[in-house]
Amino acid sequence: MSQIPTYVTGVPNGTEKGLYLAVDLGGTNFRVCSVTLNGDTTFNLTYNKVAIPKELMVTDKASKLFAFLALQIENFLKEHHSEHFESHRRRRATISTPSGYREDEVFHLGFTFSFPVQQLAINKGNLMRWTKGFDIEDAVGKDVCALLQTEIDKLKLPVKVAALVNDTVGTLMARSYTSTGAQRSTLGAIFGTGTNGAYIEKTSNIKKKIEGEYDESTGEMVINTEWGSFDNQLNVLPTTPWDKELDTKSVNPGFQMFEKRISGMFLGEITRLAILEMMQSKDSTLFRDDNSSHNDWTTTTTVASQSGLYKQWGLDTAIMSVAAADSTPELSTLRQELEKDLNIYTPSLEDAQAFKTVADAVARRAARLSAVAIGAVAIQSGLLKDPEAEVIDIGVDGSLVEHYPFFRDMIYEALRSIDEIGIQGASKIRIGVAKDGSGVGAALIALVAAKMDKSSG
Ligand code: BG6
Ligand code: GLC
Repeated sequence: MSQIPTYVTGVPNGTEKGLYLAVDLGGTNFRVCSVTLNGDTTFNLTYNKVAIPKELMVTDKASKLFAFLALQIENFLKEHHSEHFESHRRRRATISTPSGYREDEVFHLGFTFSFPVQQLAINKGNLMRWTKGFDIEDAVGKDVCALLQTEIDKLKLPVKVAALVNDTVGTLMARSYTSTGAQRSTLGAIFGTGTNGAYIEKTSNIKKKIEGEYDESTGEMVINTEWGSFDNQLNVLPTTPWDKELDTKSVNPGFQMFEKRISGMFLGEITRLAILEMMQSKDSTLFRDDNSSHNDWTTTTTVASQSGLYKQWGLDTAIMSVAAADSTPELSTLRQELEKDLNIYTPSLEDAQAFKTVADAVARRAARLSAVAIGAVAIQSGLLKDPEAEVIDIGVDGSLVEHYPFFRDMIYEALRSIDEIGIQGASKIRIGVAKDGSGVGAALIALVAAKMDKSSG
């Protein structure tokens, strides 16, 4: 695993205050937020969210993506901070600093960039590789903060990219800010489009050379594990023919193998491939209706030719959530969704049961693998054996853990089996959702960076 030192050496305690900007480039959406930290473990957040246009995820020039991001920042400032923004604009003409703004007029921005980055300082990091369907060769090896700052400057915005943060680090920070009195959080983890975790490590355990300045006084640093790339060699991970097919046809074959078995971007595709093979096997009765006279269907299958079942990525993980949530004997909600979303003509109860069985198995495997990652960090933290640690707190975010029914329960169930194999203490693990984690977390790190900036300047 990459195990990236993040230059973040402390976690907040809830007393931090101020107004900060944060942007968040995850896997599917781009969010711009302003966060007011109230200093009493609470915060107020205003945000705009836009879907990242698909063509910008695989474009030739990195500047096209970053120009789009800068434009969203401009729109956000105009919409939510117009007074502040306009007074900047008016005064800019009379100020002679290179940016045209006085230092105290500039928004410090935390940039949550949820991809593997070789971090070089709190506000500097080179992209190592893309994940989650992004593929812009031109950006690899470049400093993503500089790429964003260049586009911000072209629009003459009063914004300084002050901190670069992975979403897992942001989640860990946010969880620490908001959890009052409890034992501080040990791990921030994302189970969404992708999966990853960041935890606090003793600096004495970090073997990599950490270049540049950081606050050494705490003796700790947050590590971004990039656990999505755990066991790319497949020495221990379970592998089915459908995992293999998904990987071969992905934009990054051989990479993110752990993630490809866990996260939301991939679970639907594994399920689709498994279902398709079941349908095509000899004597299968799945989604078959020999008597169908519906024009749109072939004579033997109830699946329309334009169904997502026949297209790569055509089965959204969301429909698996519907399957997991439907516990009625008739599975009527799931059957309606199969008809509406997957163009399957009047699926029978048996069809829906088969779909649910496969979807549940794929999701349960994902949750159990997630528990492996959480358990490993808990072991590394030493807290399992620490009698003083009554609770091991884990902050999580992401569509899978937030919206997939019983995902957290399945993780807990797997953690109990860690206890059963003799590694005691896993029952102390508590998983709590850190909603809007990354935005708040990035704002908190921007605050620390702004303070460092002031003291060194
Ligand atoms: C969001 C965070 O809540 O969750 C993002 O703000 C993070 O930073 C995202 O990347 C992960 O979830 P998903 O499902 O959007 O990948
Ligand atoms: C992918 C990215 C990682 C991110 C995770 C969750 O694994 O490589 O940086 O944290 O997705 O968004």
